[in-house]
Amino acid sequence: MARFKITGGTPLHGTVQISGSKNGSLPLLAATLLVDGEVVLRDIPDISDIRTMIRMLKALGVKIEPREDGALSIDCSNITSVSAPYDLVRRMRGSFYVAGPLLARFGEAQVPLPGGCVIGSRPVDFHIRGFKALGAHVEEKYGVMHAKADRLVGTRIDMDPRFRSVGATVNLMLAATLADGVTIIENASREPEVVDCQQFLAACGARIEGIDTTTLRITGVERLTGTEWSAIPDRMEAGTFLIAGALTRGDVTVEPAEPERLRIVTDMLAHAGCDLEMGERSVRLRMDRRPRAVDVVTAPYPGYPTDLQPNTGVLMSVADGTSVMEESIFDARFNYVDELLRMGADVRVMEGAAIFKGVPQLFGAPVVATDIRAGAALILAGLCAEGVTEINGGSLVARGYEDITGKLKGLGAQVEVLPEADPEIVDPECLP
Ligand code: EPU
Repeated sequence: MARFKITGGTPLHGTVQISGSKNGSLPLLAATLLVDGEVVLRDIPDISDIRTMIRMLKALGVKIEPREDGALSIDCSNITSVSAPYDLVRRMRGSFYVAGPLLARFGEAQVPLPGGCVIGSRPVDFHIRGFKALGAHVEEKYGVMHAKADRLVGTRIDMDPRFRSVGATVNLMLAATLADGVTIIENASREPEVVDCQQFLAACGARIEGIDTTTLRITGVERLTGTEWSAIPDRMEAGTFLIAGALTRGDVTVEPAEPERLRIVTDMLAHAGCDLEMGERSVRLRMDRRPRAVDVVTAPYPGYPTDLQPNTGVLMSVADGTSVMEESIFDARFNYVDELLRMGADVRVMEGAAIFKGVPQLFGAPVVATDIRAGAALILAGLCAEGVTEINGGSLVARGYEDITGKLKGLGAQVEVLPEADPEIVDPECLP
């Protein structure tokens, strides 16, 4: 547990190196379970969620070695268990991704149900319904999902169009790659992290049509073979640093980045009054005034990412005018707002939306992070606030952001890491 101490008011200046995507790396790591042979993964970020996934794979018998060049060499030829430890699934919901590949390749998966979550209700019913549709016998008993199938059989899976679930798309497409026959997944997620995993699977020999669309047609193959792959840059990290630049009236360049995949965020920032310059693999933001009010609705890609909603809420808090934020993905993702109120923000949360009446200035205060993105948002609030902000629950932020303090310091921010004041304050029971 760590606590961040931030003295606000310094404009951020410079270039920040963006790490590989957290939510892109988790599916890639789970997908290696399908592969017969060595996989080399590059640009996997050194964050605690990834360490949890690596521990999970090792618990199943996977050999993972870091190479001298920083890449991970992964060998799944000697799996010794199809049972995922509860302690790891409890720490991070992304560990549920091992269910699809274990079931498809080894005919069985025993994975604890991930349980509740601070950002809202996050059941895995779409995943389980999909496994059943693929012919698995699934039992949920004593908090564990136990799925079995001699061989999965291709089918048509219509997912809920309101959500286009990221996790269910990943789990079901991983399962379908080794199923017998054709699986059609309707209303699939098109998040770039999911698309990157589709491209990785195709490079391993999977037959997937409709990559980067909401309808996937997957023809099962007998086996996948090893390849080398690099995770895409983290668009949530890039967006976080760009918003930090906007809030501190700075000049920040993020690289590597995929400007096209950040378009909805950079459009919002341009609307707020920032000056943006897109490079081939970078984005530069300059800002010299108070942001204008903006309205945002979160939605599945290519909509506005819910993972940047809290950061965007901080921008709205200090914008000139009234902004409306609608959250359509997670019902409890405004839990950072009460902490912002303590810093002087004027926000009213209603069902599924929040109205931000911009104030000219936030003021530093001790606050508590409740999840990765809430923590990042409070860091941004601290960077633009007058005085000192102490953020408890910093290790939650470290789950998703590689060396956030080092990177902020590199841009000139005044940040210190201190031991947690009260270790009981945040129990990261439920992790995405
Ligand atoms: N849903 C169901 N049933 C299911 C699955 C999802 O009802 O079986 C609902 C959820 O309750 C939610 C909506 O569908 O309301 C969308 O959930 P989704 O499955 O898309 O989210 P996820 O896969 O659990 C991933 C990211 C989240 C990110 C969301 C939305 C990972 C490891 N997690 O979660 O990232 O917010 O997609 O884009 O990729 C984070 O990084 O901080 C984080 C929370």
